Amino acid sequence: MKERHYLVTGASSGIGLAVVEGLLGEGAEVTAIARRSTESARLNGESIRSRLTGIRCDLANFSELETVMKEWLGSRIDLDGAVFCHGYGDFGNFEEFSVERIVNLVNTNLLSHMLVARHIIPHLKRRRNGDLVFIGSESGVRGGKMGAVYSATKYAINGFAESLRAEGTSSNLRVSVINPGAVDSRFFDNLDFCPGDARENYIDPDDVSQMVSTVLKMPRGTVIDKVNLTPQKKVLRKK
Ligand SMILES: NC(=O)c1ccc[n+]([C@@H]2O[C@H](COP(=O)([O-])OP(=O)(O)OC[C@H]3O[C@@H](n4cnc5c(N)ncnc54)[C@H](OP(=O)(O)O)[C@@H]3O)[C@@H](O)[C@H]2O)c1
Repeated sequence: MKERHYLVTGASSGIGLAVVEGLLGEGAEVTAIARRSTESARLNGESIRSRLTGIRCDLANFSELETVMKEWLGSRIDLDGAVFCHGYGDFGNFEEFSVERIVNLVNTNLLSHMLVARHIIPHLKRRRNGDLVFIGSESGVRGGKMGAVYSATKYAINGFAESLRAEGTSSNLRVSVINPGAVDSRFFDNLDFCPGDARENYIDPDDVSQMVSTVLKMPRGTVIDKVNLTPQKKVLRKK
């Protein structure tokens, strides 16, 4: 990963933070985006910190997103790819969702991904080399009760990625989606359920990070287009 440079969104916690730690640990340079800063004990060494640039941005605020992407990409000509990890869950019977809840979830989990990708893709196509990795969800493979809007955003991410992959083939752009089941992260902080306590009921964020690394390290010419990661058991508990 040395001399590679990746953009990671959702970099302040959970999967995104683990991906940042993993990529930096393998020698890459990382630009990390989230509303909060990217902090962890594993990011303390000077040689690691010198390869990390943090950008604070609310990606659901599209004018902020546009400004940040234009300013940042304008100064970078060496980007090798991006890992899209930002997003949140909102669950309940569909008819209980206000317009605002639907719009916020779609803007964050889907449209902001498209808008960030829109800035990066021309750059990667010009370099005729690059990787986009999206964190989807098992809800993007199978719909379930209480998850209509969330599931719709994740199915859309899978479809979006599939089309980008087809469009990018001639420019050596590789596009991958990782669809995890329950991951032990802050994702569940504002939800009324979480994975059961036993280790078999959740995936560790580092496991997802390891899969991202595997995807990015595939030899050129080979694409891991989709990976479904699931905990061995799927017990959820009410809080
Ligand atoms: N945890 C699971 O069980 C699970 C399972 C399948 C898929 N996923 C997906 O994995 C992704 C990451 O989730 P996670 O488990 O790592 O949850 P997490 O720990 O809550 O992390 C979510 C990240 O997204 C960022 N984010 C959210 N809204 C944002 C916004 N408007 N602008 C910029 N950054 C924003 C958060 O940063 P700030 O709050 O600092 O902005 C945070 O860094 C999500 O897309 C989620 O749908 C999660």
